[in-house]
Amino acid sequence: MTGEASAIPAPIGLLAELTHRCPLRCPYCSNPHELEKRSAELPTETWLRVLGEAAELGVLHVHLSGGEPTARADIVEITAHCARLGLYSNLITSGVGAALGKLDALAEVGLDHVQLSVQGAEPATAERIGGMPGAHAQKLAFAERVRELGLALTLNAVIHRGNIAEVEAMIDLALAMGARRLEIAHAQYYGWGLLNRAALMPARADVVRSIAAVDAARKCLAGRLVIDLVVPDYYARYPKACAGGWGRRLINVTPSGRALPCHAAETIPDLAFWSVAEHALRDIWHHSPAFNAFRGTGWMPEPCRSCDRREQDWGGCRCQALALTGDAAATDPACALSPFHATMRATAEAEAAAELPPGYRYRGKRSGVRREGLLPG
Ligand code: SF4
Ligand code: FES
Repeated sequence: MTGEASAIPAPIGLLAELTHRCPLRCPYCSNPHELEKRSAELPTETWLRVLGEAAELGVLHVHLSGGEPTARADIVEITAHCARLGLYSNLITSGVGAALGKLDALAEVGLDHVQLSVQGAEPATAERIGGMPGAHAQKLAFAERVRELGLALTLNAVIHRGNIAEVEAMIDLALAMGARRLEIAHAQYYGWGLLNRAALMPARADVVRSIAAVDAARKCLAGRLVIDLVVPDYYARYPKACAGGWGRRLINVTPSGRALPCHAAETIPDLAFWSVAEHALRDIWHHSPAFNAFRGTGWMPEPCRSCDRREQDWGGCRCQALALTGDAAATDPACALSPFHATMRATAEAEAAAELPPGYRYRGKRSGVRREGLLPG
């Protein structure tokens, strides 16, 4: 694919991973296994410059993410800068730790939207999955303050074997919290999720039930709550347009400044990721080899190359293709036309049917990674 500036539309979103620090330890975390240290994080002035470059490039939405973005001392300053630049700011937060204490100040400087993660509808489930006692009560208090401040709220629930029985209860929780939108997103198996896949994979019958529950709720809650559903790739017929298509809609910047086409792109070897500390965002978007590696359709092998859906799903997910086939340029095995599709489905069914294994979770730099029971059995 060409890197010609004129042929490449502007990105819509900037995912600003401000820090990997987080009070929670979710077993499906999309952060890399090797978390970036606080000492490696970009300084405030670089983030402010990057936001200015994003606005100039045509970005509309900035997702302030992490880790837990409110762990950054400068989160209010960064959010205020988004408002000054006319960028729509979305705080993606766990709602625990420093989040509640900074919420009033964030609202004051013009934060537009809050996306709050929930790990389960029941406190015991949520706290077992997130690995933090008391987290659920903190989230409830946080959501209450979001409502009092009049901020728009989306609830995000990652669904897997350990909480799939609580999908209906999560819909009730979203209503009780005053959310306008709920994302029921089945886990994506990259990074920690792939490491813990055997502990997280739900049975197909439970997935079908969860989809039916969402469909029913959408009908009776129309006009009150919008419910987005991300179905699990392992039981799908076609893949999703991951990140909206490689190098099409999103720039993901890591805490230390590497610009990625998607959050798991660093799992793909031999891609060179330019840093925002050394390159302007426009230069990265148009000319970085990593952004051009899988842009458009020119890189596609068959069956994608001649498929009618190639400009709908853009061949699916490169990181998943690499993880499951060993080739980042292969058709995503979530596609029924991939020669790896049947193996992917069989793997999911076998893992879901097996006894719940322990999983891995990051425990902090002293104790590193620990294997333990992560989910309610
Ligand atoms: Fe998508 Fe490729 Fe499958 Fe067609 S063959 S549906 S483009 S992944
Ligand atoms: Fe990287 Fe899907 S997560 S392309």
